[in-house]
Amino acid sequence: MKLELDTDKFLKQYWQQKPLLIRNAVPNFVPPIDANELAGLAMEDEIESRIIETHTDNWSLQHGPFKEADFSRDLPWTLLVQSVDLYVQEVAELLQLVAFIPNWRVDDVMVSYAVNGGSVGPHYDNYDVFLLQGEGTRQWRLGQTCDSSSALLPNDDLRILDHFDCYEEYTLGPGDILYMPPGVAHWGIAQGECTTFSLGFRAPRVNDMLSRQVDELLEQIDPEDFYTDVGLSPAQRAGEIRDEDLQRATRVLQAAIEHSASQRWFGELLTEPGYTNEVIEEEVAQGLELLKGELSLVTLLPGSKLAWRECGGHIEVYANGDAMDYPASVLPMLVRLCGEHALYGSALAQASANDACLDLLAHLLNLSCIAIE
Ligand code: SIN
Ligand code: CO
Repeated sequence: MKLELDTDKFLKQYWQQKPLLIRNAVPNFVPPIDANELAGLAMEDEIESRIIETHTDNWSLQHGPFKEADFSRDLPWTLLVQSVDLYVQEVAELLQLVAFIPNWRVDDVMVSYAVNGGSVGPHYDNYDVFLLQGEGTRQWRLGQTCDSSSALLPNDDLRILDHFDCYEEYTLGPGDILYMPPGVAHWGIAQGECTTFSLGFRAPRVNDMLSRQVDELLEQIDPEDFYTDVGLSPAQRAGEIRDEDLQRATRVLQAAIEHSASQRWFGELLTEPGYTNEVIEEEVAQGLELLKGELSLVTLLPGSKLAWRECGGHIEVYANGDAMDYPASVLPMLVRLCGEHALYGSALAQASANDACLDLLAHLLNLSCIAIE
């Protein structure tokens, strides 16, 4: 499966900036899951699902798990199932289409099914999304740019906009993609039954980034380091803190950040799993035993977060919020595991012959990040 897109041009002109309609983005697209399979997932306890029913200018929301009877309704409705990539391998493979964007920016693949007229209402999202049309057709209306001050209808859960100015309108068929940057209002309305695959992204909040960076910095900074003011200009008015003093203070902090010995906070924050990651001791012990012999398959467990950073001569590996250093020889294995979520054949044979790779696999096992067969 290949995305028909000039990715360089897209990143320069559209990513995070403006919507883009990509007609026939995935030629001959065969949706990897149909409405019945989606309904089956929405009946499971551990899978997050919602049904939104469309009234004239009013919408109602119900959370799953659902029963068979929930899927027959009089008013137009939409079923949305979150993180389908964690449960259906073929849906996870859709993320290969956006492999030109760093993996750690990816959130999940949400899949929706709607009957004729079904809609989740006019809204905006805080994150980028590629809306890939599966079966059937959906009309998309594009509206104004919004932010946290934009007026919403009273039902908080749904985050439906109080008003919508339609600037553009597109009808998407199977394989078409509509890219939406954060903050642009959009309103999709099913024309007949249809499914839509939302390849959704995420970005850390700046306040989380700041608090994590400061925490790491505080562990490294010498409490005997002080504010300095070489080249001070004479004080003119008693008690005054001048702009130049404040600028000097900011420069002192910037220098502390630049000279900090380690910068792990970003990787640790990005790879923190969004769910409680249960480590099953028995499975870890079995995996460690298997590592001593011949391996046939290593898989990244669904929902596990793995990233890395080249730093001096070594590699900082970030896995499920944990950071650890490895020699550069682990890189080919790591890239493959991050990209394909699996290791087998000659790539696995090469990794098995390298002690640093075996150490890293043992570490990832202990973090419940991979499974070994
Ligand atoms: C949908 O699939 O119906 C909604 C997706 C979105 O607007 O983000
Ligand atoms: Co949306």
